[in-house]
Amino acid sequence: MNKIISTIAEKMSAAFVAAGYEERFAAVTVSNRPDLCQYQCNGAMAAAKQYKKAPIMIANEVVAGLAGDPMFSLCEAVAPGFINISVSAQYLAEYVFAMKDEEKFGLELAKKPQTVVVDYGGANVAKPLHVGHLRPAVIGEAVKRILRYTGNNVIGDAHFGDWGTPIGLIITEIRRRQPELVYFDPDYTGEYPKEPPFTVSELEEIYPFASGYSKEHEDYREDARRAILELQNGRRGYYALWEHIMTVSMMDLKKNYESLGVNFDLWKKESDAQPYIPDMIQEMKDKGYTRISEGALVVDVKEETDTKEMPPCMILKSDGATLYNTTDLATIVERRKLFDPDRIIYVVDKRQSLYFEQIFRCAKKTELVRPETEFVHIGFGTMTDKGGKPFKTRDGGVMRLEELVGNIADEVYNKMADRDMPEEERRSIAKTIGLAALKYGDLSNQSTKDYIFDMERFTSFEGNTGPYILYTMVRIKSILSKLPGDVEVSAPSGRDYGEEEKNLLLTLSRFADSVEKAAAELSPMKICQYIYDLANCFNGFYHANKILSESDETKKSEWIVLLKLTLAILNDCISMLAFEAPDRM
Ligand code: ARG
Repeated sequence: MNKIISTIAEKMSAAFVAAGYEERFAAVTVSNRPDLCQYQCNGAMAAAKQYKKAPIMIANEVVAGLAGDPMFSLCEAVAPGFINISVSAQYLAEYVFAMKDEEKFGLELAKKPQTVVVDYGGANVAKPLHVGHLRPAVIGEAVKRILRYTGNNVIGDAHFGDWGTPIGLIITEIRRRQPELVYFDPDYTGEYPKEPPFTVSELEEIYPFASGYSKEHEDYREDARRAILELQNGRRGYYALWEHIMTVSMMDLKKNYESLGVNFDLWKKESDAQPYIPDMIQEMKDKGYTRISEGALVVDVKEETDTKEMPPCMILKSDGATLYNTTDLATIVERRKLFDPDRIIYVVDKRQSLYFEQIFRCAKKTELVRPETEFVHIGFGTMTDKGGKPFKTRDGGVMRLEELVGNIADEVYNKMADRDMPEEERRSIAKTIGLAALKYGDLSNQSTKDYIFDMERFTSFEGNTGPYILYTMVRIKSILSKLPGDVEVSAPSGRDYGEEEKNLLLTLSRFADSVEKAAAELSPMKICQYIYDLANCFNGFYHANKILSESDETKKSEWIVLLKLTLAILNDCISMLAFEAPDRM
């Protein structure tokens, strides 16, 4: 369906041209004074300079050309030269009624659907998920779903870290503790045990220990470095140990991401890109893109216009080991081979932005991708406590994601103490609401900004929160359950509409605008803003009308249509944000 704002823009263009002005002045925007009008055009102001005329004169001439159009309930020129526009309630109602019968409520799908890889999650194996993993998972999942909803072919990849320094550290630490294990005997040629020599909780204890220990012990660090190099060179025992680490850790990661409602299409790991490395490096060398710098193999990525420091992209360390960079580049090669993506989006902490700039430039320069391939780094900020410090547990440790999810569910559970429902149901609903609170609390901020984790505010049933959105949906469900379900109204009757109902119609009609914006700007926040607006409009409408006891049957039937549509749109939106609504709360 053509968006209302587009229809207005077309009419406005025609009116500008008919009045003798260039079309480019006819841009229409959503009004920034919703108390005065719904849409506006400020083009007369700009045209005034070119045509050397008073803006108000131009605005008046354009408005005269639009006079009498039944689409508008308001179309007027106001000093110094604004054109204010509102759409008639009847037009809005007809539009909204047409939306309900359309696929995705009339949203026009991407004209040129793209193949997009979203690289998010990025947890390192052998470590439990902690609060630092929340943002990439939540933002990435939403971006993936928004792009998919708008008609693109989207592949979400977890890209787990399983090949770098941490693995070297873990191997080194296991050897320190149990040097007698067969994995460390270089002469061993038999089969390795099927059972891992550690449990998931042991593994989770090993890494932080090793990481801390290595900071103080140079030789230990050196051992870890050599271990990873030997693993990369195919040392059998290390490889077998690494496989154990993977099995134990991946099961745990899957469980955790699942309970967060995050599902990757690909559960790939850094190691999956390793087979692509030798040829990639050979080609880079053959094409003359590399040089040796202090023993390391690098590609220069500096550009003349750079104002900031742009170090070369390292491909191999001086000892010949591959590194984080090499893997990311090889993953690009792999993705090209498997999906030939038009776009690759990385949802990774903004502290890695220089790194990604180097990778993107290097990939383009060395022709790993088509020249038009688009790389995007969504660099997110930090979730902090009220003091602005990275969010930690009470005793200063890193909080597990599981614990955070549990805490927020408990908070909601306690808020629902007075509800008359079975204990088990209250628990399960609290978990659903808790997740919404957490995700909405994150996504309703601009991704690049830091934000404060505020349990009290996030779990509030009022205000700009996830629970408020869910509460609104539950309210609609409850009203609908008391009304006949089978009303069929194909077109609105043309009655008088109250102010609140008009607001609701207007906001419903703007669904596609919001989703398109969210997709274009890769901004889940836009969806949050829209559903908050929609929830407010709905609640305004709800308080202004007695829906259940309304005696005018025509009105009531039309309201049922609006209720259903509002609920369906909210449902699609929260599903883009990857959370769900309970049936009651
Ligand atoms: N595992 C990495 C880390 O812990 C994040 C991975 C991000 N994704 C990527 N393609 N580099 O920093």
